[in-house]
Amino acid sequence: MKRIFRHTTLSATFLLLCLGLLACAAPPPALDATGGAVASAAPRATAAGIKVLEEGGNAVDAAVATALVLSVVHPNAGNLGGGGFAVIRMGDQVEALDFRETAPAAARADMYLDEHGEAISDRSLIGPLAAGVPGSPHGYFELHQRYGTLPWKRVVDPAVRAARDGFVVTKRLAGALEGSSKLLGRFEATAEVWLPGGRPHDAGSTVRIPALADSLQAYADRGPVALMEGPIAAAVVAASERHGGILSMEDLAGYRSVWRPPIRFQAFGWDIASMPLPSSGGIILGQTCAMLERLDWVSKPRFGADRTHLLAEVWRRAYADRFLLGDPSTSQATAEELMSPVWLDRRAMTIDVGRATPSDEILPWPGAPDESDQTTHLSVVDAEGNAVALTTTLNGRFGCGLLVPEAGFLLNNEMDDFAAQPGKPNQFALVQGEANAVGPGKRMLSSMTPTVAWRDGESMAFGAPGGSRIPTGTAQVFLNVVVDGDGLQAAVDRPRVHHQWRPDSIRAEDGALSPEIRQELIRRGHEIEDCGAVGLVQIVRWMADGPCQAAADPRGPGSAGVVGTKGR
Ligand code: GLY
Repeated sequence: MKRIFRHTTLSATFLLLCLGLLACAAPPPALDATGGAVASAAPRATAAGIKVLEEGGNAVDAAVATALVLSVVHPNAGNLGGGGFAVIRMGDQVEALDFRETAPAAARADMYLDEHGEAISDRSLIGPLAAGVPGSPHGYFELHQRYGTLPWKRVVDPAVRAARDGFVVTKRLAGALEGSSKLLGRFEATAEVWLPGGRPHDAGSTVRIPALADSLQAYADRGPVALMEGPIAAAVVAASERHGGILSMEDLAGYRSVWRPPIRFQAFGWDIASMPLPSSGGIILGQTCAMLERLDWVSKPRFGADRTHLLAEVWRRAYADRFLLGDPSTSQATAEELMSPVWLDRRAMTIDVGRATPSDEILPWPGAPDESDQTTHLSVVDAEGNAVALTTTLNGRFGCGLLVPEAGFLLNNEMDDFAAQPGKPNQFALVQGEANAVGPGKRMLSSMTPTVAWRDGESMAFGAPGGSRIPTGTAQVFLNVVVDGDGLQAAVDRPRVHHQWRPDSIRAEDGALSPEIRQELIRRGHEIEDCGAVGLVQIVRWMADGPCQAAADPRGPGSAGVVGTKGR
């Protein structure tokens, strides 16, 4: 069966070949075929997902296989020691799985504060006190149990082999290891795997992680209980305790992922399902689309200042509302409230097409939340048009930095997504609300936006890493496709902008705003700052009467692949 891949991380030889062949080419079109498609952050992970589709697995089988390979070859974010979210459309079933980490039972609201009530630098970021109870082991299994069709062992096997037989370090991974070598060097067990001899692995070298292979094999043989109880769980707790953490055996054994009704809405002729609380992503995406429709955004010239102005105005309102959000049990607003037509009408009516509203005039709170941008997203469609969007994370790149030696995987630092000091600027001069205060068993607020969208004879799955920029990056790619008719790759490649209420400025990627538009936006009262990537979007599309497509984001590591035949 024919397979076609494009990797945004290319070997030097392949890169030279491509340069020769594509010397005068514009960005290539998204790959097409008919049997399904996968886009993820790593070529080996995408290849594993494609192989599963070729063997008759469905989109869930492929998504879980892809995610598990990412837990080996993309250690910055792929994980067994973190958590995430998946939004799926399998036949008529549209569901969201929340496998977000939870705060350990011993967590307390003031655990990151000193005796004066000030946040202690790095305490919620480095070492196992920063780690929430991992959700991925339960989540991947749950996803497969409910919707998978291939045997569980078959789905886990590519990850076991990657860890046991080894995988080749890409340039990007080598760069990430180099960039995080201080963090990775803080813990002996982490350094042994990721900084052998005190140096990060070179690009092109092969890495084997026998302890991780054993953990994955146990997971393949016995399911999540192999990681949540018994010797591997004991090793996690012991490593955590050795370095001042509070994870307990009861925390690990008691973790459960939760099926939740997704955020559902219609916009621009599409049905859309995205992630509900404890992620803010689906609400922000839904509010964005609803307000843009009310403002007749579609009718504005594509490359004029009006469109960017309205995006910024819509986002500053949506992110102001985000301040109220947190774990569903403590959130101060619900999705129903924030997406009610009355509220959206009121919000949209306050937008002046000719003038920026200062963020201070929208809500009195002095700041806005932000998150680290080291997350990873994968998207899959299968030959039947089933779609899975799955975003998973350790939060910071390589999480809290602590690798559990006997288990071979890193622990997350997701606790930093809570508000360590509600109502007060944190170490990054940012503020989050009481609704997202630390509390035992709570899930920390997220911005992850795994999304599926469909209309007659077509479906798509998409999402991104990128911290607080996830919803805005995801929204722009969706709008490029459904409003402006871009092909997937062009939609992903196009430069993007971002606004998140606080700080009160439009962030613009290189090339996102022409000098004229920049000037016009400033005239309307916007501040503009340059920024790096607004998310790294991975998107796939299925069409009943046409080829599947996949596009990976060239801003980061990415790999898009399609199956060459429809298989039905
Ligand atoms: N840790 C990033 C997020 O959950 O949004």
